[in-house]
Amino acid sequence: MASAIVKGILAQESTQAQVIRCFSASGNSAAALAQETGINQASDLPELLEDADLVVVAFKPQHLATADSRLAELTAGKIVLSVLAAKTLEHLHVVFPRARNLVRTMPNTPSAIGAGITGWCAREDLSTSDRELVVNVLSSVGREIEVPENKIDALMGVSGCGPAFLFEFTGALRDAGIAGGLNFEEAETLAVETVLGSARLMARSGRSPEALRDEVTSPKGTTYAGLQVLKAANFRDTMKDVVAAAKARSAELANGE
Ligand SMILES: NC(=O)c1ccc[n+]([C@@H]2O[C@H](COP(=O)([O-])OP(=O)(O)OC[C@H]3O[C@@H](n4cnc5c(N)ncnc54)[C@H](OP(=O)(O)O)[C@@H]3O)[C@@H](O)[C@H]2O)c1
Repeated sequence: MASAIVKGILAQESTQAQVIRCFSASGNSAAALAQETGINQASDLPELLEDADLVVVAFKPQHLATADSRLAELTAGKIVLSVLAAKTLEHLHVVFPRARNLVRTMPNTPSAIGAGITGWCAREDLSTSDRELVVNVLSSVGREIEVPENKIDALMGVSGCGPAFLFEFTGALRDAGIAGGLNFEEAETLAVETVLGSARLMARSGRSPEALRDEVTSPKGTTYAGLQVLKAANFRDTMKDVVAAAKARSAELANGE
């Protein structure tokens, strides 16, 4: 995730690689990132943070509890932006008590190709310049949306886990095509390109999914016949259950369960 953010920022061409520093526990991934992108690898935390204004925290969530205690002082006066799933602003405040502000984010995997959507919330109201800084960093990997922290679990269920739900749908569409007589390659190409093209159409047209669905559904036609099966199988109720389960698990993880 750190690598996606660094590459996204550099792709915008408004930030020089030399002003970004990275650090990782073993040093291996930081060395690889520095080598690949031209950013600097810091040899220790003081060097990483000495004149940093914004710090992106992107290690595994379970490492927050054992984070270096020097971080409390070293991040004083800086903005700390976390991508750690299930770590609340209060969890972050324990480790970074003197930060200028804390930003909790929930990116998703399409961020790796600059097509993500990141939900975020801040502990305190952001100043205009700090908001600009945060939005700039997050928009380097796609779009961003600010939500109150109590909506992050629901957002996790939709955009955080959503790519996996869509991948599952695409695999199911492929397998259904195979059952209908296509070979694997034909069915996978058709399913993937259909999902891709339809997503592009939704994004570009600015019209609702329902309006686009209705446009291709003639009364008693083929699409109508298929949609009737989805309706009979309570597809929309199933999706509600899917997102509710992900939301509930996200809340459990945030509570340390
Ligand atoms: N992948 C996603 O789509 C996604 C989506 C939303 C949120 N997230 C969040 O993003 C975070 C990173 O996920 P990821 O998939 O990018 O994991 P990852 O590829 O395994 O990267 C983890 C990084 O943390 C470094 N690291 C481990 N312990 C550290 C420590 N104590 N101090 C500093 N660096 C340390 C590792 O570096 P070394 O190996 O070199 O030590 C590695 O660069 C997680 O908190 C996850 O919840 C990920």
